[in-house]
Amino acid sequence: MEIKFLGHAAFALSHDGKTVLVDPFLTGNPKAAAGADEVEADAIFLTHGHGDHLGDTVDIAQRTGADVVAIVELAAELEGAGLDKVHNPNIGGTVDLGWVSVRLTPAWHTGTSPSGGTTATPAGLVIEIGGKRIYHLGDTGLFSDLALPSRRGHIDVALIPIGGHFTMDRFDAVTAAEFVKADQVIPCHYDTFPPIQTDVQAFKSDVQNAGYAEVVVLEPGESHTVR
Ligand code: NI
Ligand code: MN
Repeated sequence: MEIKFLGHAAFALSHDGKTVLVDPFLTGNPKAAAGADEVEADAIFLTHGHGDHLGDTVDIAQRTGADVVAIVELAAELEGAGLDKVHNPNIGGTVDLGWVSVRLTPAWHTGTSPSGGTTATPAGLVIEIGGKRIYHLGDTGLFSDLALPSRRGHIDVALIPIGGHFTMDRFDAVTAAEFVKADQVIPCHYDTFPPIQTDVQAFKSDVQNAGYAEVVVLEPGESHTVR
């Protein structure tokens, strides 16, 4: 399966001709690798409702007819926005679409629904696609329960925020990489805006020198094949 970095925390995971987008924030994203009107999507998974994650979800889902998975309060507002293939798990729940599944895990962050009307707890996402298990940590600070998903099954690739300010910084992200125990780590949520600029190469060498994982740094638009 293939992982394409679309910039910030947005990824396209593809296998066998099908694509799931995670957190498709493209319009207004200075690092966006694609336009909202050109990406393909059979499903869209959201970590939380902040604008830099919800992004273009409604427009893309309306154009493509993609299934959308979001935590229950966020899902309710997306249905209210006119989407009809919305799935509404809560933390711990799994949605299995047959070709891809996603389980929501805890993430330490804040969040509201797009309207700001209800609290919508942020999540991490454990995604199984093409025989691989991908853990998108979402927006989170460091906490030790990041170690728990790998007890359920080996994590092939972890997508870890490293930019600081709104999430863990690159130093805590090294410890996160230790806890998560993935074969490979792809850093995200950095360098999009001034407050989250960081040294991604320093993160890479810190993680690899500690022997925690192989770090794959992707520029927006670049893809990585998981074998
Ligand atoms: Ni956020
Ligand atoms: Mn964010």
